[in-house]
Amino acid sequence: MIIRRVKSVRGQMLMPGDKSISHRAAMFAALADGITLIKNFSSSIDCAATLSCLEALGVTIERKDNEVLVNGAGMDGLREPQAPLDCGNSGTTIRLLAGILAGQNFKSTLTGDDSLRSRPMQRIIEPLRMMGASISADDGRAPLVIHGQDGLNPISYELLLASAQVKSCILLAGLSAEGRTEVIENQITRDHTERMLRSFGVQVETGKAEREGENARFAAINGPARLTAGQISIPGDISSAAYFIAAAALLPGSSLVIRDVGVNPTRAIFLKQLRELGLNVEITGAREVNNEPVGEIRVQGSTQQPAKSDSSMTIRGLIVPQLIDELPLLAVVGSQVAGGIEIRDAAELRVKESDRIATTALNLRAMGADVTEFDDGLHVAGPTRLHGTTIDPRGDHRIAMAFTVAGLMAEGETDISNHDCVGVSFPEFFELLESVVER
Ligand code: S3P
Repeated sequence: MIIRRVKSVRGQMLMPGDKSISHRAAMFAALADGITLIKNFSSSIDCAATLSCLEALGVTIERKDNEVLVNGAGMDGLREPQAPLDCGNSGTTIRLLAGILAGQNFKSTLTGDDSLRSRPMQRIIEPLRMMGASISADDGRAPLVIHGQDGLNPISYELLLASAQVKSCILLAGLSAEGRTEVIENQITRDHTERMLRSFGVQVETGKAEREGENARFAAINGPARLTAGQISIPGDISSAAYFIAAAALLPGSSLVIRDVGVNPTRAIFLKQLRELGLNVEITGAREVNNEPVGEIRVQGSTQQPAKSDSSMTIRGLIVPQLIDELPLLAVVGSQVAGGIEIRDAAELRVKESDRIATTALNLRAMGADVTEFDDGLHVAGPTRLHGTTIDPRGDHRIAMAFTVAGLMAEGETDISNHDCVGVSFPEFFELLESVVER
């Protein structure tokens, strides 16, 4: 895929359904009593993996374009799968399904592609074992063999690392435990599980955790619980929108509106960071749909080239988990703003779909940027005139898309090799981009 410099990005857009929220909608619909219609379901390969795992567990699912009809099996209606469940590239699929399957009276095996089989799973194995589930895994990696049982022990668990996937895994296991299961987090992570469980009629308590630091929060549910089917509309994916937003904000003369997109505060910190860089991004018309905040995002291109900021920006600490998926893109943005950007406290990036610190540094340097790599992040000097080159995303969708944005600003041609990996979250990415760029 060859990317060339463009003048601006202009137009109105809709994003496909949010990937994180779609996974949850499909899984909870499968566990619910009754039929759930999910509208604007994510077009991602990751969410298709979730649907096929649920089908292999005996759930009847009809899919037509972006509508998915799920005939809920109830908490006790899933069936022992005949073969290992293939979660593909998807961390959310494997970690959330592990929580569900820990509470089911049968044996199941969860596996995935090379990338997923190299990612750490001890973070979910430990709390699930504390709840009484039997799980085996070599070296804390998939395949995970789960001997589930209903009547798990409820636990109160303090997260050692900030992860919505781990939090969600434990809460889902808690649905089939006898009593109160509580997760305490010292850093806020995305709260889609808590919000969506409420949409399915489950009481979820959330609040400040008293015995912990100022930022500690808890989420708790009482098991055994049952879920009630309904109709769910998935908001547009803000993490997919982020690529268009960054391009429009940086390119003078741009004007972009993205409608009906999720603006959940635990996902929207990226927009705040762009504003702090002096870029012109705002949310209008915010409202709630199925307990999720939805709104319009409006972006005007920077009036200066390069975009001006008074000092170097450092992204670190509590906010990091709330823009974890946008960090490679922010590193690209950093190369275009005065003062550059430093990202710290983000060692988690090393265990995403690729080692995102390494892949971001490698590709930014190949385009001529000055990058310092740290164990837990990177510093990108700015502003830099990037030059086109061949980008190796190492199979990582977010790296391919972040460097497409870089290519829109670079001199010469940028070739995104193996660009098909964008389908993991956003198959329509290049087509939609073509519809809004002005040359
Ligand atoms: C996700 C949580 C995050 C994020 C991932 C999706 C989720 O992962 O990076 O893309 O849907 O819960 P972690 O919980 O591992 O940080």
